[in-house]
Amino acid sequence: MSLAHHEVMGLLGIGDLHPGGAAATRLLLTELEREAPRRILELGAGIGLTTGQMLERGWQVTSVEPSPVLRKILSERLPAPRVVASLDEIDGADVSAGARDRFDAVIGEGVLYSLDLPSVLRRLRRLLRPGGRLAFADIVLAEDADPALVASVHARTQAIFGFPMVPRELLTRKNWETLLHDAGFDPVFSQPVPLVDRAANDRKTWTAKALAAVRHPRLLPALLKFRLYGRRAWMPPGSLEGWAAVWSLNRG
Ligand SMILES: C[S@@+](CC[C@H](N)C(=O)[O-])C[C@H]1O[C@@H](n2cnc3c(N)ncnc32)[C@H](O)[C@@H]1O
Repeated sequence: MSLAHHEVMGLLGIGDLHPGGAAATRLLLTELEREAPRRILELGAGIGLTTGQMLERGWQVTSVEPSPVLRKILSERLPAPRVVASLDEIDGADVSAGARDRFDAVIGEGVLYSLDLPSVLRRLRRLLRPGGRLAFADIVLAEDADPALVASVHARTQAIFGFPMVPRELLTRKNWETLLHDAGFDPVFSQPVPLVDRAANDRKTWTAKALAAVRHPRLLPALLKFRLYGRRAWMPPGSLEGWAAVWSLNRG
């Protein structure tokens, strides 16, 4: 099976593959810190750059990461967090343990837009304690973006990169807010962030990439493919932006 873009980046040691990059993570963790969280659930941990920062703060982290390639890298880098392949492994067992054992916060960077948001938000509602925080760095589509183009870019980038560059549907700021409100969340913090801080593919020299390709032969064809397609302007300028936000699960 060919490697997905985030797996290739992971094998190169590149993380922070989300809107706003490392700066957005700092914003989110500073916001979460105010509530002194104890138990955190992380969706789409990748190679665990954010995971490591949360562990350094003494937080107890459970990470969800479906990619076996990335789970291996994460577990070798950081032995401390519990890492599972799917939310299914948590939903059920942890919730049945009772409200007092629910998570204080959930963080997802560059992942929520790719999922069935109404369904994931319902699940997160069950996993979070009342007043718990949902923190994310994610993608917002402009109100005037073309829904047919969005669906097509979603499908084509999913096929090429193994992960979609845009949501399946027109996920505008208004849609995000409606979905979050409907799932029982209230806004706490929000800030626009750049969509990409620096193209992930440009963060390593070709020498570093060639050395990595010697160790992992599946890397080279994937790197060449992503080089070819990665520079394409998939969406018209101004139709996508990033936002970092924290919402609170209301107590009602
Ligand atoms: C764009 S990457 C971001 C990774 C990491 N958060 C970062 O910022 O570098 C999206 C990540 O979400 C993971 N992912 C995909 N589907 C998921 C799901 N259903 N639940 C949790 N994570 C998922 C992918 O494997 C990938 O590691």
